[in-house]
Amino acid sequence: MTLQETFNTLIDSYINDKVGITDNFLSEVLTSHLISNLKLLYAEKQLISAGIGNEKVTVKDASVRGDKIYWLDRSHNDPYENEFLDLMDQFVSHLNSTCYTGITGYEFHYTLYEKGSFYKKHLDQFRNNGSRQYSMIMYLNANWQEGDGGELCIHQNGNMRKIAPTNGRSVFFKSSELEHEVLVTHKPRMSITGWLKIN
Ligand code: OGA
Ligand code: NI
Repeated sequence: MTLQETFNTLIDSYINDKVGITDNFLSEVLTSHLISNLKLLYAEKQLISAGIGNEKVTVKDASVRGDKIYWLDRSHNDPYENEFLDLMDQFVSHLNSTCYTGITGYEFHYTLYEKGSFYKKHLDQFRNNGSRQYSMIMYLNANWQEGDGGELCIHQNGNMRKIAPTNGRSVFFKSSELEHEVLVTHKPRMSITGWLKIN
């Protein structure tokens, strides 16, 4: 599959049922490098507890969300972070040219949920800041088994859809629209999570 075809698979499934899913957005090689990076950052205690609210009012409340994060940034000069961000540049330009989405920026962080943690039902767009347009999550979990928990649970018209965070899987949905939660994970659960924005 070409990169364009992979992008289109994600976009088409988003158009069809509001939740885009593809299992090969990231190559296996890049996925394994990102996993190693994230494990190292975690071991070095570089991840911080994620907050709720926006940049101005951030509260840390483990009864709402228990994940730990690390923002990706080109200034880190990490080859795999950069490769990931290059891929996102390509995805954004594909999305803008095929769907006229007008995305002007993005933000992504590594995420690690330790065993027993979760993220209660929420929307990703802040009430006082509408810049987040689309949410994207790319899972970095080799050998994820049924029974490991940690499903992304999307609430839609009174229904619940559970998506397992399996290695290489990517999920894409509109940030202002779909309420979702992360169910309790029974082992460490890793991902890159981010948002495509109009600033
Ligand atoms: C989030 C989120 C879902 C997931 O970080 O806002 O909802 O599956 N993440 O990690
Ligand atoms: Ni969310």
